[in-house]
Amino acid sequence: MRHVMVMNSKGGSGKSTLATNIACYFAGQGNKVTLADYDPQCSSLDWLSVRPEDLPKISGVKGFEEGIRGVARDTEVLVIDAPARTHGSEMNELVRRAETILIPVMPSPIDMKASARFMEELLELGKVQRQQARLAMVANRVRENTLLFDELDHYLEKLKVPYLGQLRQSTNYLRAYQRGMGIFELPEYLAGPDWEQWKPITKWLDSKKSQP
Ligand SMILES: Nc1ncnc2c1ncn2[C@@H]1O[C@H](COP(=O)(O)OP(=O)(O)OP(=O)(O)O)[C@@H](O)[C@H]1O
Ligand SMILES: [Mg+2]
Repeated sequence: MRHVMVMNSKGGSGKSTLATNIACYFAGQGNKVTLADYDPQCSSLDWLSVRPEDLPKISGVKGFEEGIRGVARDTEVLVIDAPARTHGSEMNELVRRAETILIPVMPSPIDMKASARFMEELLELGKVQRQQARLAMVANRVRENTLLFDELDHYLEKLKVPYLGQLRQSTNYLRAYQRGMGIFELPEYLAGPDWEQWKPITKWLDSKKSQP
């Protein structure tokens, strides 16, 4: 079973948005997928509760209550939606559960500072230092051609963590979330530009680079 976690201690950076879309991606590829929501706010499980029956099935577990005990044995990909404000031993505990970790960062000064601190703490963890967990970052809610975006771009490139690219700010993400769908399940005429932006992310997820 693969364990893919979406993590950033900064609230609202896009963890649940990425986690639900990654779950859809793997389910759409024919994998048995479970989404473990470690956030007591249950954003991912709320999304799952309205998912249409005719779309590829995704199971859900309340990670914040039962950990991964409830995860079906035949699960092929477990996608973990981590809560905000994780650090210290809680962060360590969560990182123990994953070998692939994606970190969404928003291009605002507050988010970038908070995310930098989060990254520093994450990079200190033994599991990460031993390369038993592979990390990558994604800029999220990007409005192109803004000065802040250029700053984020430079900042992400400076860190020694792969920077996969950017996802634009788009109402498609809200639309998909409301319907229990992923961006890949919206029609191309709406979400074509978003599909393009996901390509480097799914390519990384499918490659050995994201798996120790
Ligand atoms: N690329 C995007 N375009 C537009 N809206 C987005 C995008 N990414 C996230 N959002 C919206 O931003 C808000 C926060 O996103 P999300 O809930 O995914 O963040 P989070 O990191 O899981 O938050 P929390 O820390 O509270 O768990 C949500 O309303 C979500 O729909
Ligand atoms: Mg969330």
